[in-house]
Amino acid sequence: MTAKFGSRIGLIAATVGSAVGLGNVWRFPAEVQQNGGAAFLLIYIGCILLFGIPVMTSEFVLGRGSGANAVDAFSKVTPNRPRWRLIGLLGVLSAYAILSFYMVVSGWTLEYFIESVTGALYEPVPGISGEDAQFAAKMSQYVQGTWSPLTVTWIMLAANAGILMLGVQKGIERVSNVLMPVLFVLLLAFCAVSLSLPGASDGLKFFLSPDFSKITPATFINALGQAFFSLSLGMGALVTYSSYFPAKTPLIKTAVTVSALDLMVAFLMGLIIFPAVTTFGLADHDLAGSSLVFITLPEIFAQMSATRLWSSLFFLLLMVAAFTSTLSLGEVATAYIQERFRLSRVKATLAVVLPLIALSAAASLSLGGVSSLSVLGTSFFDILDNATTNIMLPLGSLGLCIYMGWVAPKKFFQNQTSRGFVSSLIYRIIKYFAPILILLIMICNLW
Ligand code: PHE
Repeated sequence: MTAKFGSRIGLIAATVGSAVGLGNVWRFPAEVQQNGGAAFLLIYIGCILLFGIPVMTSEFVLGRGSGANAVDAFSKVTPNRPRWRLIGLLGVLSAYAILSFYMVVSGWTLEYFIESVTGALYEPVPGISGEDAQFAAKMSQYVQGTWSPLTVTWIMLAANAGILMLGVQKGIERVSNVLMPVLFVLLLAFCAVSLSLPGASDGLKFFLSPDFSKITPATFINALGQAFFSLSLGMGALVTYSSYFPAKTPLIKTAVTVSALDLMVAFLMGLIIFPAVTTFGLADHDLAGSSLVFITLPEIFAQMSATRLWSSLFFLLLMVAAFTSTLSLGEVATAYIQERFRLSRVKATLAVVLPLIALSAAASLSLGGVSSLSVLGTSFFDILDNATTNIMLPLGSLGLCIYMGWVAPKKFFQNQTSRGFVSSLIYRIIKYFAPILILLIMICNLW
């Protein structure tokens, strides 16, 4: 395995690209809304410091230290304990499962981008009155369709495949180097617009003043789950990316930088969303995931001047965020298959992408009329979403912590992080605190 990132900026751009995604844009504002504004933010920051950065550092140690893909990393470090590879295999499976539904959503972002540019998104739906009902009807009609969502999903899949085939430096790194600055510029532009709206100060008051009465044990669980999802932990994406880190990359510093940037994007999203929903009288709307992005925000854009411009730029931002995340998910399986079966990069990518044509189609169609794709009333799409976030990712992080703390030699960790106070603190967290806490999340989530 010889692929490496070409520059420090490139490796940070790619890793931040993996972390910044739908988790920041559509999960974070909803969590803040439901969990007491800044009270959630504070707990979330605590989770990133206490658990996110240590677990990310361990993924980096495993990846860079072994120089191998997410599965073989385990057998490289402890060749006499081959069973631990199962954690890596779980990661590959998780990546596949997440990709199957995430690709569908990334297809929607492309569709909404195109419809914003052409203006079709803002044409009235016949027979339905009221802005809210208009956009809600549009979205449900759209996602329940057959060929239209499938086409955009497959276009995004093909775009991912094209970049993955180009490899680490020429594909992932080059694209991230271009897209991440675009994403930050767009975010800052939206911040400026949102903060100059008349309701900005009320929105900020909600976002930045903590309501501790809303805090329950579930708040902590949600914050930790959100931190793991948003930082791309628990499924080998960062093990794979860090196997491309050069030997001199400082791992703890990189984990801190990536986590801080990911947190910053979530924070900026808060600065964008809350002033906007307050100004346009939509603060009591459900900001959860798809309804925020595909219903509430178009409603806001419709009331602004230059509707199509802002709408197009926003869906471009979302598309960029989703794209760099799906690249990292695809890379987990591609790197594994390439090394395991000694395939060329192109063949390995095809082996990963071809089954996804069917899997993503199943996820998309399960939202529409194909009832055989639902089990007990839950669509295949939601099953994948819940199974990965609530079970597979926490299990992956738990396995990794136990492996790092109790199975891999302590020296391996120390050598990769250069000994010192912070390194030994992180090691202790990984060995004792993190596994207990993750188990707690899992038990509470399954309750
Ligand atoms: N971190 C990404 C997001 O916030 C999602 C993701 C999870 C990407 C796991 C890769 C691996 O949307």
